Amino acid sequence: MSTITPNSSPTLLQINTSLFADKGNSSVLAENIVAAWRKKHPTGQVVVRDLGSSPVAHLDAARVIALNTPAADRSAEQAAIVAESDALIAELKAADTVVLGLPMYNFGVPSQLKAYLDHLARAGVTFRYTANGPEGLIGDRHLIVAAARGGIHLGLPSDSQTAFVKTFFNFIGIHNIEFVYVEGLAYSAEHKTKAFELAQAEIEKLAA
Ligand SMILES: Cc1cc2nc3c(=O)[nH]c(=O)nc-3n(C[C@H](O)[C@H](O)[C@H](O)COP(=O)(O)O)c2cc1C
Repeated sequence: MSTITPNSSPTLLQINTSLFADKGNSSVLAENIVAAWRKKHPTGQVVVRDLGSSPVAHLDAARVIALNTPAADRSAEQAAIVAESDALIAELKAADTVVLGLPMYNFGVPSQLKAYLDHLARAGVTFRYTANGPEGLIGDRHLIVAAARGGIHLGLPSDSQTAFVKTFFNFIGIHNIEFVYVEGLAYSAEHKTKAFELAQAEIEKLAA
């Protein structure tokens, strides 16, 4: 008789995207979320991808052409380009939970994060178009976004990040998305302390 056991050793992928690597406020907030997750999953495995200290290549014509070339026709250089994208997709797919550090820089997401997302968006691999519209192929999982801003933008037109991140991950099939924000970090030291305290209360309430 076989018994179905719950996944006792889940995997969390922490993606830091701050220019300041693990010192960034978004990375610290992400780390606080990971700490809460570790308490719930003491045997869980945490994988860290830090795009601040180890950025991935930006998209260029050679990359787009390589990704659109059938496997059998790729040069060695093109195969290496596709392998980089494949590895990032496999890393994401291996994670039950993803924690994404999200700083606001000049009203947008860090270019390092945009470059990473450009590696994930692959027709026929992470999404496809059907007669009913686009369909995400990566499989749903829990994504928690740790957003840090110098100013206050939540609910305002200046917050282009929240909609962009939701749209992108929905497109590849990830719908279980929660956001934790620390805002107004540039206002004052007191404001920053309060923002992290409020965020910690949100972290304690997050789904497992
Ligand atoms: C280059 C740069 C651009 C920034 N642009 C904005 C901005 O447009 N709006 C804002 O509210 N804060 C802005 N900030 C403040 C950051 O959002 C804030 O410092 C936040 O902590 C960044 O996350 P990090 O510490 O994880 O890098 C900017 C900071 C830097 C360094």
